[in-house]
Formats: sequence, C-alpha cells, structure tokens
Amino acid sequence: MPATILVGAQWGDEGKGRIADWLAAQADIVARFAGGDNAGHTVRVGDDTFKLHLIPSGILHERARCILGPGTVVNPLTLLREIEDLARGGIIVTPERLVIDPRAHIITPAHIALDGANERALGAEKIGTTNRGIGPAYSSKAARTGIRAGEMLDAERFGDRIQKAIAEGDHVLQSIHGLAPIDNADAKTASYVDAARRLAGYVADGVLLIGEALEAGKRVLCEGAQGTLLDLDHGWYPFVTSSSPIAGGALTGLGFGPRYVDRVIGAAKAFSTRVGSGPFPTEQDGAVGDRLRGTGANPWDEFGTTTGRARRCGWLDLVILRYAARISGFTELILNKLDVLSGFDELQIAVAYDIDGQRTANLPYDLDAISHAVPVYETLPGWNDDLTNARTFDALPEAARAYIQRVEAFVGVPVSAIGVGPARDQVVLR
Ligand code: GDP
Ligand code: IMO
Ligand code: MG
Repeated sequence: MPATILVGAQWGDEGKGRIADWLAAQADIVARFAGGDNAGHTVRVGDDTFKLHLIPSGILHERARCILGPGTVVNPLTLLREIEDLARGGIIVTPERLVIDPRAHIITPAHIALDGANERALGAEKIGTTNRGIGPAYSSKAARTGIRAGEMLDAERFGDRIQKAIAEGDHVLQSIHGLAPIDNADAKTASYVDAARRLAGYVADGVLLIGEALEAGKRVLCEGAQGTLLDLDHGWYPFVTSSSPIAGGALTGLGFGPRYVDRVIGAAKAFSTRVGSGPFPTEQDGAVGDRLRGTGANPWDEFGTTTGRARRCGWLDLVILRYAARISGFTELILNKLDVLSGFDELQIAVAYDIDGQRTANLPYDLDAISHAVPVYETLPGWNDDLTNARTFDALPEAARAYIQRVEAFVGVPVSAIGVGPARDQVVLR
C-alpha cells in the first residue's frame, strides 16, 4: 500500500463505508481525517448492519487500529453512544482499538445550538446541515478559540471550558439571534465532564502512530467522509461542509506526506444523490428520482443514515466525476449501486453543461453559473437483468459493461470494483 486514501467523488453517501470495510481487512491502521458525526457509513456484515458516524469502519476488523485524526471534530457524547452501540453488536471498542488524537477539536453544546440558529437565520437559503454542530466547531478551530480533544485529560478544567463555551454561545444566541439560551446547560456540562473521564484513555498521539506505521511499511487506510462537492474549498460553496474531504485533506488531517500515498480511490454511486440544499444539475424530481430513491423498503434506499432525510436523486454526472478525479488524483474509481439501475429502458449520463448557450465539460465554480447549468446528456441502453449475483465483469449484461466503460473513458480512471448490492461479497472486482 502503504497509504490508501478513500474519498467520496460526489456529495457523500457513495458507499464509502462498505468500501472502507473491504479495504480495512488488509489495513493496520484505519483513520478518519475530516468531518465528524455528520457522516453516516453503513456496513453490512452478514445479517448485521452497522451504522458508523465517527468511528472508522475498520473497527469491524479485529487487527486494524482506528484513529480519529487532527482534522476531525469530535462530539464526546455521540462518540460514547457509538461505542455503546457497537458493544451491543459485539464489537468492543477499547483504547487499543480506537485512538483519539489530542489535536482533534471538540463539538460543544454551543456549536450544536449555533448550527441550528444559523440555519434558522438563513431561512429559505439554509444549507440543510446535519445539525451536528460541524460548521460552528470548525469556525471555532479557525478562530483559534476551540477546545481540543487533549483537554479531556483534565476533566475538571475541560468542564470549565465547556461551561464558558456555553456562556459565549448563549450570548450569540440571545443577542444576535433573539433566541433562548441553551437549555439544561449544567446537565450538559456535567455530561461532557463525565464523557471526558470515560474517553481520556483513548486520547493518544495518532499522528505519531501513523508516522511510525508508514515508516515501518505498515498499511494505513484513510477513510474519507462526505464528498468532493461538499469540500469547503473545492465544493459548491456555501452549500458545503466545513472540512476538507478530498485527498489533500487526508494529508493535512492526519499529518503525513504525499510520498506514502500509492492509491487514491474515488468512491462513486452509479447515479447521483444529494442530501441538503444546493445545486444539483442532474436532479430528477419525478418518476426517475422516485425509482432511484426507492420507497424505503430496502435498507439501501436513499434516506440519510445520519438524519433519515430523503436524499435528492438524479442521473450520473460525469462532469463532476472527472472534476473529482482531478482534484484528488484518483488512481481508481469504485462504482456502487449499479444493481439499482436495473430495469430502466434507457439511462442518461451528463457529459457537459449548457450554461447560457455555452457548452462546457469543466465544472463551473460560480454559483450563479451553476444555477443556470443545463446538463447535456448522453443516452445509453438500460438492462433488465438482476445484477446482485454477478461476481465477474463478464457476468454483467453488455449494457451494464458499456455503462462502466463509458465512465472510465470519460473520467480517464479505471473502475476497479463495482458494487452490486450492500453485502460484503456483492462486488465485482476487475
Ligand atoms: P457512505 O456515507 O459513503 O458510507 O454511504 P452510506 O452508508 O451513507 O450510503 C450508502 C448506502 O448504500 C448504504 O445503505 C449501503 O449499504 C448501500 N450500498 C452500498 N453499496 C451498495 C451497492 O452496491 N448496492 C446496493 N444496493 N446498496 C449499496
Ligand atoms: P457521509 O460521510 C451526505 C451535507 C449536509 C449538508 C452539508 C453541510 O455519510 O458521506 P454539515 O452538517 O456537514 O455542516 O452539512 O453537507 N453532508 C453530507 N451529505 N453524506 C455525508 O456524509 C454528509 N455530511 C454532511 O447534508 O448538505
Ligand atoms: Mg453516508
């Protein structure tokens, strides 16, 4: 390996969790480098379904050590809940298995309250955040007023810091937003102090562990969260998250150099989905969107893992995939949910945008231009075969193979694996 970076190529929910689960079987370290519990990574293991939010999917493999890197933001309460949920599923998360880097930032109750208040203030222009306090936590980090995970080692002082953060949050809520102060502040502070005591044993220098592992030739998997178009710098601002979910984010978010990276895997879905507001050129409102979304009867239907919100659905957008491949330098693509496309007579793929009469195959960055972008579609034949039992490329119907080959040709990156169902073995390896 030694370092593999796995990132979302679209708007998140590309099936990164299930890919991380395959790759983690061969990894010594699996590390999250960005985001927080806004992520929702689903992994099916036999009849069990695990929904991971902050803990890397590597936790499901006994030998991998999992790390929450400096680039992540940690809500101690939801992290403890996740640890307890995993214990109920038979996965015991000890400090040997999970390390919280002391440089990661803490999401406070004030961040969560402010996330809600900011969204309310935006009204119709709201971002549609997951309401986990992500934006405000990264704002505090950038303003150099944040609380870091290492501060949990002194629980008393940590409690004082949380109390002060709540008081400051109250001031903004009341004076700027005209809202009530944060409720049950004392109980919330007490639960953070309790959580700090319980999590202190997990705090260790993750950057050092990763550096030593890479120097020893061990294998490190960087598990991305969110997706390329949600990147703070390279996504469609302001309808983005507040971190750097692209390949570059793995280097800054974990603290190692590019010379160790030999695989950059773009995770994509065979169609497009987006949850939250913001532009989505290939979105399909009617019957096509409903078909792609599913009714909720299947566990993989398009309803958010973290928020339960119905995801917006549409055709595959190759303009976006090629942009994502450039921004992160994909060495390969993995395309999930090809099975869901069975049964369409014809499939559409966007290969360019028409913006006020000008055609471009490059991703626009200006929100106004994006809002005028009309996708230029190529139509490909569909297939009716059930793909869920296919395990080789040759076992796929010709039209499905042609669909994959069109993606490869346009993006200029090989598709190394294709998901044909959510189970561990429902994958076609090339
Ligand atoms: P992530 O956030 O990128 O890890 O993706 P999510 O877990 O939020 O959403 C992906 C959903 O699709 C989950 O319910 C997965 O179990 C499911 N899934 C992943 N790959 C496939 C696939 O190839 N076929 C089907 N039918 N479902 C898949
Ligand atoms: P995974 O890792 C899909 C979206 C939110 C919103 C925007 C900002 O499961 O792919 P935030 O709470 O981060 O401030 O919200 O980003 N978003 C995601 N969408 N999958 C995710 O994670 C997401 N994490 C954030 O819906 O539009
Ligand atoms: Mg998800």
